[in-house]
Amino acid sequence: MDIGVFIPIGNNGWLISKTSPQYKPTFDLNKEIVLKAEQYGLDFALSMIKLRGFGGETEFWDYNLESFSLMAGLAAVTSKIKLYATAATLVLPPAIMARMAATIDSISHGRFGVNLVTGWQRPEYSQMGMWPGDQFFGNRYEYLDEYIKVCKELWETGQSDFKGEHFQMDDCRMLPKPEKKIPIICAGQSAAGMAFSAKHADYNFCFGKGLNTPTAFAPTAARLQEAADDAGRNVGSTVLIMVIADETDEKAMAKWESYKEGKDQSAIDWMTTQGSVDKKSGKDTNVRDMTDPTSAVNLNMGTLVGSYASVAAMLDEIDTVPGCEGVLLTFDDFIKGMDDFGTKIQPLMKSRQHVSVTAGAA
Ligand SMILES: Cc1cc2nc3c(=O)[nH]c(=O)nc-3n(C[C@H](O)[C@H](O)[C@H](O)COP(=O)(O)O)c2cc1C
Repeated sequence: MDIGVFIPIGNNGWLISKTSPQYKPTFDLNKEIVLKAEQYGLDFALSMIKLRGFGGETEFWDYNLESFSLMAGLAAVTSKIKLYATAATLVLPPAIMARMAATIDSISHGRFGVNLVTGWQRPEYSQMGMWPGDQFFGNRYEYLDEYIKVCKELWETGQSDFKGEHFQMDDCRMLPKPEKKIPIICAGQSAAGMAFSAKHADYNFCFGKGLNTPTAFAPTAARLQEAADDAGRNVGSTVLIMVIADETDEKAMAKWESYKEGKDQSAIDWMTTQGSVDKKSGKDTNVRDMTDPTSAVNLNMGTLVGSYASVAAMLDEIDTVPGCEGVLLTFDDFIKGMDDFGTKIQPLMKSRQHVSVTAGAA
């Protein structure tokens, strides 16, 4: 099972709380995390794109670096780990994104891939006059389908004459071609999003679910497998999980309870309002689940809280879910969390016994 880290490109990572670690995103912080990840044998690092934060007392995600430029910098200082940037496809023309990806492919010597998002939060785009109108909620994966076709033509042949509803190329050129095929990931959860991943992606991310219920995402992974079977392709699920670990279950649970008590309600309210705007994607989008009051403090992502041994055992359970090929980790404290994962959790995991740790890791 592959393990990746969802690096904190935005302030405070994925905890909308006044009592969790408070920090701003910098290149140096993300470099330290990714170098540790590489030393501990993690397979990949991903950064998201977020163009508008949620505000509140913690100014949640009001501070965000840009995903491709961050990954380009990280590509230059790493040598093994795979790196993925997220493309805000509404504001990055496909021929520009394809060229940026080819550039980072060159910097990283073939270790670079792209996470494609349609966007779900209108103000990220309307604030710069680039929201196409609310009909986009209904046709955003048709837009993405055309987008990736243009990119793939450019990467594979260096040229595109694609003509669609959203994009028209006119002998568009893009050289050099990437050294290696650029892997595509997507995190679609709606039927349209999963159909897109089944057709075009190499992996699909999905949200884990619940507290200490590591296999609760199995029905989502099964939905992706059905879509992949329909498309006649092999596409695996990678599940997003937050790890909060300590020496004992009790100590870890005390941290989780304190983060929940300190939730930044005003930032959560803003997210809840944004999550309810899309009336067109159907019930199966997970955007509305993110705001469920049960665990809105960490966007309701699947959360593993416990001793190092408990977390290792729960992560191993994930490996038993059919169609699951990886886990994407977030931590409450990324520096300590990465060291704890590398030195105390991963060595206990049966599914990670094959991993070799580089000398120099903490
Ligand atoms: C691991 C992961 C990473 C994501 N990264 C981003 C991102 O960087 N920017 C963004 O706007 N949405 C991001 N999303 C949201 C998805 O792209 C997608 O819109 C969401 O999961 C809802 O699925 P749907 O679009 O099929 O309704 C991410 C979701 C997951 C699970």
